[in-house]
Amino acid sequence: MSINIENLYKKYDRSFIYENMMGPNSIIILEELLSEIELNKKMRILDLGCGRGLTSVFLAKEYGVQVFAVDLWTSPSENFERFRQQGLDDLIIPIYADALNLPFAEKYFDAVISVDSYHYFGNNDTYFKKNLKPLIKDNGIIAIAFPGMKCEVHENIPEEMKPFWDTESLEMWQSIKWWKNKFSDYLSYFKIEEMQCFDSAWNEWLSTSNPYAIGDRDMMKTDGGKYMNLIKITGRVK
Ligand SMILES: C[S@@+](CC[C@H](N)C(=O)[O-])C[C@H]1O[C@@H](n2cnc3c(N)ncnc32)[C@H](O)[C@@H]1O
Repeated sequence: MSINIENLYKKYDRSFIYENMMGPNSIIILEELLSEIELNKKMRILDLGCGRGLTSVFLAKEYGVQVFAVDLWTSPSENFERFRQQGLDDLIIPIYADALNLPFAEKYFDAVISVDSYHYFGNNDTYFKKNLKPLIKDNGIIAIAFPGMKCEVHENIPEEMKPFWDTESLEMWQSIKWWKNKFSDYLSYFKIEEMQCFDSAWNEWLSTSNPYAIGDRDMMKTDGGKYMNLIKITGRVK
């Protein structure tokens, strides 16, 4: 299963994706995140922090999996309407929930997939072990991607980035070294890597007329590929 950017808009309506992006193009990120992962239609997937559901749509459409599309800031009714319009409302269940208090049975999911949201709630030593791992079956799939930093900058913030990086962002955007031990003890086949799709996913977002995207343009130009990255984490629950 592979949809590269050239083929993306042959299959997906550009305006649907552009209207529903909430950050770097999550379908591009998801495609790379899943490049070494096999999903099948018998699986029940948690799409954690799904936003407006682009990744849920992709998962249901491309793999025929059942998706629980969980988000805190986006209305589940609006997501339901989007899923209905895509003809996917029988496969995707929109749920309003806080990732810190997920309303699911233990070992309920075959996989958790999370794009550009984990850093908001999982940026500590306990979240994965206490809140998320219990909900995933033994040997279940973990595939998580989020923005981070190429190196540790927190003790020595580059002068040019100071106008753009506030304290809250700096707590969320961490390096691979910082994230590694949040997962390493709990996953087999554990991998944490910088993603290749950084430019393409960000350029898509920056070209939209979303006010947040317009606000991000100067930051990304100033960064110029020096500090920020996208990080992916994959593995199987031990
Ligand atoms: C930048 S948006 C990305 C949305 C989507 N994954 C995408 O890539 O288009 C971050 C998402 O994280 C979700 N989020 C942040 N904190 C959350 C929490 N505590 N529980 C559930 N979702 C949360 C927000 O609701 C928001 O939709």
